[in-house]
Amino acid sequence: MLHSNELNIINSSIISLKVMWFTKKKVARSKKYFTDEWVGEWKRALEESELYKVKGKEWNASVLLRMDPPSPALKKESYIGFYLDLQYGECHELRYADETDRDIADVILKADESTWLTLIEQKKDPAMMIMKGSLKLEKGSLVMLTNQKQAAKALLQTAPSYEKESLDEEYISETIDKIPVRRKHISFNTTNRGLDFESFPMKLFQKAKQFGVWDPASISFEKDREDWKKLSDDEKTIIIHLSSLFMAGEEAVTLDLLPLIQTISKEGRLEEEIFLTSFLWEEAKHTEFFSRFVKEVFVERPDFEQFHKPFYKKLFYRQLPEDLNRLYTDSSPLAQLKASGTYNMIVEGTLAETGYEAYHKMLKENNLLPGLQDGIIKLKQDESRHIAYGLYLINRLLNDNSDCSAPFEKHLEELLDDATNVIHEIFEPYDVVPFGLEKEWFLNYAIKQFQQRINKLGIY
Ligand SMILES: [Fe+2]
Ligand SMILES: [Fe+2]
Repeated sequence: MLHSNELNIINSSIISLKVMWFTKKKVARSKKYFTDEWVGEWKRALEESELYKVKGKEWNASVLLRMDPPSPALKKESYIGFYLDLQYGECHELRYADETDRDIADVILKADESTWLTLIEQKKDPAMMIMKGSLKLEKGSLVMLTNQKQAAKALLQTAPSYEKESLDEEYISETIDKIPVRRKHISFNTTNRGLDFESFPMKLFQKAKQFGVWDPASISFEKDREDWKKLSDDEKTIIIHLSSLFMAGEEAVTLDLLPLIQTISKEGRLEEEIFLTSFLWEEAKHTEFFSRFVKEVFVERPDFEQFHKPFYKKLFYRQLPEDLNRLYTDSSPLAQLKASGTYNMIVEGTLAETGYEAYHKMLKENNLLPGLQDGIIKLKQDESRHIAYGLYLINRLLNDNSDCSAPFEKHLEELLDDATNVIHEIFEPYDVVPFGLEKEWFLNYAIKQFQQRINKLGIY
């Protein structure tokens, strides 16, 4: 808590920059959805769409867009949505669907009426709506759908939307605050209000002291070295591949956390800063752990960076440091939300959690590399506290700054797209992935993790 004099000093010296965000005003719709006229209009638009011809040129599957529960706006009670026969950029059939179409459709996408209307009117990305859990893939392959997400998006863009967009732009100004460096302390939290032991960050800190004190140097890799000698070249390659992603990932989060800690400290949030000291220490240990593992187990040091592909580089080489280091010059609530969204929600909460779960499952099922398994179990526990703090921070920021919700949501959407592309990228070099690793499992797990976090935030 800051003293009021100090707050005045800070407020008067805040450097404000005006940034313009705009949203488009909507006008009420006059025509009705899901009528014969609407279906006819859609079919015509789809047949004439040059965009769909290009984006859908590799899509050859029939699709049932199911409305669950069926909308009363559908022409007949027995109708459950729409059936589309799509072949290489062309629409051969678009009609109302009934129950019998569930057997013949290759892909079934299911959502309630309001979700379909959101997709149609706001031209949302259907792949993203699947990630968020509002659109469900009832039949078909998630891998195929995420590969064809541009086709799916272009397809829904052709559906007639009766909500017109006004040309008027509504500007919302946002103040970007640079929190000045504190040059002196006026009072101390501990001697003024007292440390809040009941606060969530302090409870996390208690757990960190209990579970986060493991030492990477005390983990034995003796059996790992023996196991390594028995592995085939392909098996070695996938372990080197995954290790190279985790190793650089842990280094990136170690290097890039500091600006967030500094921002929290400048705001005088002592309990949060106390927890963050354990957070950074743990990331440093994770970096040490992987470096020890590869040094002690791999006979020769491989070329790790050959496995860092474009989407991985985009997230870990650029986006993460950019979003975190921005806090040095812009510590506005939106900048903090973006930093935590990238760090806690996407890098830790979606990619790292999925990767570690898959890695551990693979090693355990094959009874391999016990030292690596042991470290990953401990590391996963640490990560769950980091993600819990991230959710706490995001909730706190959103509660006080509801106008940040839309731009934050957009930020997450873009990054989630990159995160799924990282998963596609991992599997690209392999025809058959050793140890039975499956892309479908990765994608499903990543989506489940993201959905759980989003539900806790309640922003969608
Ligand atoms: Fe970590
Ligand atoms: Fe972490």
